[in-house]
Amino acid sequence: MKMTEKVRNLINEQINKEYFSAFLYLSMSDWLNQQEWPGAANWMYVQYKEEIVHAEGFVRYMAMRGEKIELKPIEEPKHEWNSVLETFEEALAHEKYITAAIEKVAKAAEEDGDRAAKLFLDWYVLEQVEEEVNGEDNVMLWKKAGDHPGALFSLDRQYAARTFVADEIPHLDN
Ligand SMILES: [Fe+2]
Ligand SMILES: [Fe+2]
Repeated sequence: MKMTEKVRNLINEQINKEYFSAFLYLSMSDWLNQQEWPGAANWMYVQYKEEIVHAEGFVRYMAMRGEKIELKPIEEPKHEWNSVLETFEEALAHEKYITAAIEKVAKAAEEDGDRAAKLFLDWYVLEQVEEEVNGEDNVMLWKKAGDHPGALFSLDRQYAARTFVADEIPHLDN
């Protein structure tokens, strides 16, 4: 079954949004490194790699369906923030925006009777639940550390421990 134009366009837009997410996290990671928060910078860098996997998941899905991808310019991300807490607050706000975008694609797939696309998108719907929970935790933890140097230092050390494990996105054929 060919994709409807609406679903194809929305998935193409989502590819762009996932690559933009990667850019945003990479920019945050770089700023955090500059500000000497190596742990938080590591966390954002791991997130950058996750976003590439999310984008590639859609790219591979389109190839599997024999649909053409359309790569559009990626928006320039912000380069500066006022605090480490602010980067995590913006990351959370960004994930909420991504959740809404994914829901929109899933809804279009449902409405257009594309059950295969809907099934594929379900993984992303659940992934967004995880992203928002992590995002809420991050904001809560950095808020709690407040401006206590000791608490901030140990929290940053904790964030240094995050390692990248590529998500296995279901329903892709290789
Ligand atoms: Fe993502
Ligand atoms: Fe994730």
